[in-house]
Amino acid sequence: MEKKQIPFLAMGGLYQQDDLDAAISVIKEVCDGRGSFFPLPEENEFQQLFAAHEGARKAVAVNSCGTALDCCMMALGIGDGDEVITTPFSFVCTAGTAVARGARVVFADIHHETLNLDPERVREKITERTKAIIPVHFAGLSCDIDAFDAISKEAGIPVIYDAAHAVGAKHNNMPIGGKGKASCYSFQGNKNMTCLGEGGAVTTDDDQFAEKVRQLKTFGYVYGEKLRIVSIGFNYRMTKVQLAVGITQIKKIDFVNSLKRERMQRLNELLRDVDEIILPPGIDENHACHLYVIRINTDVLAVKADLFAAHLKNNYGIQTAKHYPPIWEWEIFATLGYDGSDCPVAAKVASQVLSLPVFPNTTYEDLEYIAYSIKQTVYELRK
Ligand SMILES: Cc1ncc(COP(=O)(O)O)c(C=O)c1O
Repeated sequence: MEKKQIPFLAMGGLYQQDDLDAAISVIKEVCDGRGSFFPLPEENEFQQLFAAHEGARKAVAVNSCGTALDCCMMALGIGDGDEVITTPFSFVCTAGTAVARGARVVFADIHHETLNLDPERVREKITERTKAIIPVHFAGLSCDIDAFDAISKEAGIPVIYDAAHAVGAKHNNMPIGGKGKASCYSFQGNKNMTCLGEGGAVTTDDDQFAEKVRQLKTFGYVYGEKLRIVSIGFNYRMTKVQLAVGITQIKKIDFVNSLKRERMQRLNELLRDVDEIILPPGIDENHACHLYVIRINTDVLAVKADLFAAHLKNNYGIQTAKHYPPIWEWEIFATLGYDGSDCPVAAKVASQVLSLPVFPNTTYEDLEYIAYSIKQTVYELRK
């Protein structure tokens, strides 16, 4: 096949005329002297649409998943002396907000197939200091919510889901946004939906928790006859222009996810006979299809993913990404004394993974080329 160049795009979803119109209409109203950037009717509309889509009673829009997680840590009163259990196989932010609030992060290992936090490994890490558990729906695949519900009930520990990859994900055909104490979403530019490059939301079925998060994202204000500030909060709000685009984006997220799902399923078909590659699990209607992460089956092909990725890039022009190096490898966590000794599955998996470029507009011809290049790379590295 003729060599192509296939980049790993910095844009996971679809931006179209409806998004442009939504953004421009807000700015135009301001230019015409008819509107302002505040107050925010779009905030309520977006929050209602998002909560309904994710199956939660309430959604609170914030400006990132990081600030969503931070609001949850603050709302739970996480601080010095507390422990928060999470996965090391995620973006650093999953663990960072707990550390920023003074807690000690405790890494529990992941499941070798789903790559999600393993509930059995979490059980082993619970102490009287454990104040929260943060599982991640990795790549868009829902984690074992039933098991985490059971742990939460037995141990009385709240679960905050990092749903950065998971807008539209389902668990047993049900949306996930009302599960646990809360879920934290990202609308950063790489995600399947984005609000002009940034954004986030907290969803929850707990009205009081939602109100606490709402206060924290706006300086601690309680709205009412008399404005009161009852806690120290921040300005973690999305802008009105972002919220207007959030409305157009949430309306088409199922379509975007389905475009990615069809392409991921096609790649699964094309690669299914390659023993050297472990395919991503669970790419079905429940999967939010944010990332398509393959693993080199290092028991069959003794090659690290980094070398495989370099070969793909240099010889076939296919750019990949790594989701993720384990969090303990980031300098700050290494300095704090973390390592992978307790998480052998995550350590092994992190050396095996690479994310392939699968986007809503990826052509089927490109998918054929990607599969062909992977098979060639396997063949060439086997020699
Ligand atoms: C699993 C996970 N959690 C949290 C974040 C942080 O999201 P944001 O950039 O919206 O703060 C990301 C970002 O990619 C992520 O992948």
